[in-house]
Amino acid sequence: MDTIRSVVTGTGHYLPENIVPNSYFEEYIDTSDEWITARTGIKRRHYAPTEETTSTMGIKAARKALKNSGCKPEDIDLIILATSTSDHTFPSTATQIQNGLGITRGYAFDLQAVCAGFVFALANANALIKSGEATKALVIGSETFSRILDKNDRTTCILFGDGAGAVVLEGAKTTNGGSDRGILATDLHSDGSFKDILYVDGGVSTTKTSGHLRMKGKEVFRHAVSKLVNSTERVMEKANVTSAEVDWAVPHQANVRIIQSTTQKLKIPIEKVVVTLQNHGNTSAASIPISLSVANEEGKFKKGDLILSHAIGGGLCWGSFLLRW
Ligand code: UT7
Repeated sequence: MDTIRSVVTGTGHYLPENIVPNSYFEEYIDTSDEWITARTGIKRRHYAPTEETTSTMGIKAARKALKNSGCKPEDIDLIILATSTSDHTFPSTATQIQNGLGITRGYAFDLQAVCAGFVFALANANALIKSGEATKALVIGSETFSRILDKNDRTTCILFGDGAGAVVLEGAKTTNGGSDRGILATDLHSDGSFKDILYVDGGVSTTKTSGHLRMKGKEVFRHAVSKLVNSTERVMEKANVTSAEVDWAVPHQANVRIIQSTTQKLKIPIEKVVVTLQNHGNTSAASIPISLSVANEEGKFKKGDLILSHAIGGGLCWGSFLLRW
């Protein structure tokens, strides 16, 4: 029997030119490169200049993903942009990316699940492709978190950076016994009772401002490890695979200690884990597609590799996916 699988056929990412090393913060707040490196693994992040926005970075990442996949912009009939830092309150930033790519057919929309945004976007694109509502999708994560940081809050300002990543997802028929490529399973969760441990203290409907990011880091850390492990166990159960079969883990890039702790509990050796956060910090919804693109550029993935990914962020929202490369 034919079934439709959503296959990743291209990846791309973009990081703004302006690199901000840990030493930048040493100059004006009570912190050190040593503390940031030891507690987070981050060495540098990129900040977008004023003229660069979530949509302009998303367009650059999407163009690279299209080129890498061999698809033309006009082939795309779905764009989902995961972001919490949209260009405007409306229209959606996804439609501005659609326009920037010269696409006038299909549909585009934003999706907001903060740092878990890309996992939610990929799961939704997969469902739309499998149901026949789309055939070729661009799934993008793009963020300008530097715009919502309180630059004087040392507990958060050192963690986040700007950037964008994108994948092309194409529906492909799979026959029994044939190719097993594509998304095998997804697993999504949210629990709004955790709002106060990670949120932005502004918004259109409340303060009419964009506000600043606030986080109780230690509590988020604790939830991150247990919730990511649980979700990953569920997604592996859904796909009927074990962690021993995972070729590459591409986790959300927030803190290397969360990554180490989570993958250790899942019995995935660190050599199989893609870690890129040292070069860009936490780019929220852009982090997983940036890591996928960097690892793909480095030639890490072989056809047929089993790739695991998971993320958690504000909401709390968290989830995971498994795909066959
Ligand atoms: O993408 C999802 C969202 N976010 C996350 O996943 C982040 C999750 N949380 C984390 O990554 C970690 O909790 C942090 C990196 C934010 C903090 O690391 P921690 O090991 O949990 O440190 P802590 O919050 O327990 O703070 C330890 C100490 C504190 O001082 P006292 O109270 O022990 O005197 C902090 O005030 O470190 C202090 N501290 C700093 N010191 C130097 C906090 N931030 C800094 C800093 N530089 N930037």
